[in-house]
Amino acid sequence: MKLVDTHCHLDNNRYSEDLEEILDTVQKKMEFCVNIGCDLESSKRSIELAENNSNIYATVGIHPIDILEFSEETKIKIEELASNKKVVAIGEIGLDYYHMSAPKELQILGFEKQLEIAKKLNKPVVIHSRDAISDTVEILNRYKEIKGVIHCYSGSLETAKTLIDRFYIGISGTVTFKNAKKLIEVVKEIPLERIVIETDSPYLAPEPFRGKRNQPDYVEYVAKKIAEIKGIEMEQVIRVTTENAKKLYNI
Ligand code: NI
Repeated sequence: MKLVDTHCHLDNNRYSEDLEEILDTVQKKMEFCVNIGCDLESSKRSIELAENNSNIYATVGIHPIDILEFSEETKIKIEELASNKKVVAIGEIGLDYYHMSAPKELQILGFEKQLEIAKKLNKPVVIHSRDAISDTVEILNRYKEIKGVIHCYSGSLETAKTLIDRFYIGISGTVTFKNAKKLIEVVKEIPLERIVIETDSPYLAPEPFRGKRNQPDYVEYVAKKIAEIKGIEMEQVIRVTTENAKKLYNI
């Protein structure tokens, strides 16, 4: 069994020079990758990538940073795109109070409308939450039937414990950074059965590549760090997190 990257953005223009090579590496070294949509355009490109590559899957959704493009019309388009059989989730959706490119009220409204889509289509969600964990949790608690992943988790252990009955905790390269004390505690205490691994490529490259362009097979460095924190074998991390990713996305 190989590793999975549960969250990447291979449609990003930072891969325009060597995408074929990256796709080749993904084909050879990985179980599968999930390419995440952030707006309508990238959602369409995600589907295109998934249709052309057997071990790439797609998600569709409008990121909180792009939520100003969300409208009734967008909602219908997202629903249409989500019917493609390689679309495995709605996302990434959520709240971003760090960038604050739209007022809170608008972000919350766009988030709720997309949770409605997920509920209607019975799909899991990929949640983006930055500096907004308490509002995120409050909203998710109103949608008890919804499951998914909290991508690039950065909250506390206490909050993680309240989420893991319905959500996987997405661990990215940030766990390898020097200041990762809080996240290391989360990884240590949360059962491996509730953890999935991601890169968020091209962002958040793990050590020793911090600051450089990230790529899906660097999940290896995240997996190694998780094995080290939990004091378990790499093989166990690979097997369990890959099974988790399959369950999360119904693959
Ligand atoms: Ni992302």
